[in-house]
Amino acid sequence: MRTPLDVLTLDELRRRTSVKWRAFGPDVLPLFVAEMDVAPCEAVVDAVTTALRAGDTGYDVGTAYGEAYARFAARRWGWSFDASTSRTLPDVMLAIVEVLRVLTAPGDAVVVNPPVYPPFYGFTANEGRRVVDAPLGADGRLDLDALERAFADATGVAANGSGPGSGRRAVWLVCNPQNPTGTTHTPAELEAGLALAARYGVRVVADEIHAPLSRPGLDGHPATTHTPLLAVPGSDAAVAIVSASKAWNLPGLKAAAAVAGPGAADDLRRIPEEASHGVQHVSVLAHVAALDHGEAWLDAVLAGVERNAWLLADLLAEHLPGVRYRPGEATYLAWLDCRGLDDGAALDTVGRDDGRTPVGDPRGWFLDRARVALEDGRRFGPGGEGHVRLNLATGVDVLTAAVERMGASVRAAA
Ligand SMILES: Cc1ncc(COP(=O)(O)O)c(C=O)c1O
Repeated sequence: MRTPLDVLTLDELRRRTSVKWRAFGPDVLPLFVAEMDVAPCEAVVDAVTTALRAGDTGYDVGTAYGEAYARFAARRWGWSFDASTSRTLPDVMLAIVEVLRVLTAPGDAVVVNPPVYPPFYGFTANEGRRVVDAPLGADGRLDLDALERAFADATGVAANGSGPGSGRRAVWLVCNPQNPTGTTHTPAELEAGLALAARYGVRVVADEIHAPLSRPGLDGHPATTHTPLLAVPGSDAAVAIVSASKAWNLPGLKAAAAVAGPGAADDLRRIPEEASHGVQHVSVLAHVAALDHGEAWLDAVLAGVERNAWLLADLLAEHLPGVRYRPGEATYLAWLDCRGLDDGAALDTVGRDDGRTPVGDPRGWFLDRARVALEDGRRFGPGGEGHVRLNLATGVDVLTAAVERMGASVRAAA
């Protein structure tokens, strides 16, 4: 199977100048940041080239982004929404920040579900908001009890949802699908979370940047599908942040849109005009082309990602049987539990990591000893200890070489 992940050679990829290819030297296989080793989508190349040749490089205007996403969402998931109230914003994290500014004040709480995309912590804290953790359960799924405790903490409302509370506003920032675990929240989970949030007066904001990246279900493996938050009953006052950035590998041509349920349309109107200042018109054209004309390319990428997910499971079983990995339902990210690499002797008698196995710092271990760059699980909040995140969006050769090197580094230390 030849997919857009199988086109470029490692030498060609190393000529790229983005962070994936410049953060480390040429001896390192970079599987850390969420960029894909794909040949670009031709529809995007055409749109950007046409815009540049025509000098269509002015300021962006209107809701073309939301409208293109609405067409894609209707085809892909049968979800339609009113794009006329959407707001085009420079990127997903800035969109989240703008929505948080409208829905909360400094000192208010933002509930997140770790392990989760690290900037959820940094950007939220940077806005003076208080992060409250509601960790995913051991099964990697939303834990409604933890969510309820977090909503009670966030609002000061008693744990049964009664009482006056602190009067503070709060947001549940849900990552769907979840980075780094690849969990796709089900309609029932989302509906239950929305109902809880309503009981505590918590507003709900979904980051759906990974939404187009659910599994197609090849070779007998089940397909998964994304459930847009705003398609779920009870989402009237919710906001979703959508983008083509991850699925079409466009973080260097950033753009995003905030879309609202009918009860949140006024909130989006309250986002100040200044927030749109950084929107790049050519990026919007790139995203619109991807959404309107890039679906066949996306499906080919998804076939390659799914192949790689199962290949990774096989490679780990062969070379690193102490690592636990369950292919996720979405995203091109793999969340590896390395705690099983502890042979029992890795911690000394006072509990310090003795550095003889990767268990204390698997990311540092694999970088130093295997020259494979991964993301450190600890950055993803509670539950990330002993884990690394590996980016599957690469060719078979790179993925195989990376796991072989990682396995050899552990065997060499045994
Ligand atoms: C869940 C999630 N949100 C947001 C982003 C970043 O999006 P942007 O670059 O548009 O801010 C990423 C990037 O990987 C992500 O995984």
